[in-house]
Amino acid sequence: MRHDPGICPSDAASAPPDESGPEARPPTLMSLDCPVLLTDSLVLRAPHAEDIDAIAILANNPAIATMVTRMPHPYGRADAEAFVQASAKRENGNCVYAITEADSGRFLGCCALQNRDDGRSAELGYWVGEPFWGGGIATEAAHALIGMAFRTRDIDHIDARCRVTNPASRRVLQKSGFQFQSTEMLEVMALRASVSMEWFRLDRKTWISLISWTNDAR
Ligand SMILES: CC(C)(COP(=O)(O)OP(=O)(O)OC[C@H]1O[C@@H](n2cnc3c(N)ncnc32)[C@H](O)[C@@H]1OP(=O)(O)O)[C@@H](O)C(=O)NCCC(=O)NCCS
Repeated sequence: MRHDPGICPSDAASAPPDESGPEARPPTLMSLDCPVLLTDSLVLRAPHAEDIDAIAILANNPAIATMVTRMPHPYGRADAEAFVQASAKRENGNCVYAITEADSGRFLGCCALQNRDDGRSAELGYWVGEPFWGGGIATEAAHALIGMAFRTRDIDHIDARCRVTNPASRRVLQKSGFQFQSTEMLEVMALRASVSMEWFRLDRKTWISLISWTNDAR
């Protein structure tokens, strides 16, 4: 499994009772496509062969590998090649995106949305190359992916997990409206050990409220 996207945890945790009814949902397209997503400064698109060198360089970083569950370390060109090939399969509507700079096309990182078997939820994950940290990239990419997920899929909530020692990722999730659920132990491939992870959730009702407030403020 060295080609695994290595984005973020995906193990399902026990879910709280579902309190959102169908009336709370905007019309959905029930599509499992992974459309190209455009934001103010980013283009999110499928990873392709031209990204391999950049992925191999940026992902070969323990500061990234030790913060996600399924990224090998060290990370070589063969890992990046296998990752790009695996991402293209888009099995079961799972979407893996290259995060790229809109102006230049430069590769910046990856983000992904993984569908859960229950069909009602998805897991969000992301990493950004260290030279680009602190520029709002992960937050902007997460918002685009979350919007796509709730608009095009009949899901009730999106989950995400970050290590307790990862304040930057926790902040990205908080800025995106996620709420803390619990702490759990999950294995990190690069560490060959289990570590403490915080589980966060963004439900559809909260997301609708957030985008309504944003729109009202304009
Ligand atoms: C986590 C990660 C994706 C963040 O990417 P990014 O593009 O730098 O994120 P953003 O700039 O959108 O937001 C980061 C926020 O964390 C804050 N932050 C960064 N380091 C911090 C720290 N040590 N303590 C507290 N807050 C911190 C930033 O100030 C920013 O918040 P602000 O906008 O309110 O100032 C990136 O650091 C990364 O790839 N890390 C390794 C892999 C990883 O952790 N992936 C997520 C696994 S769940």
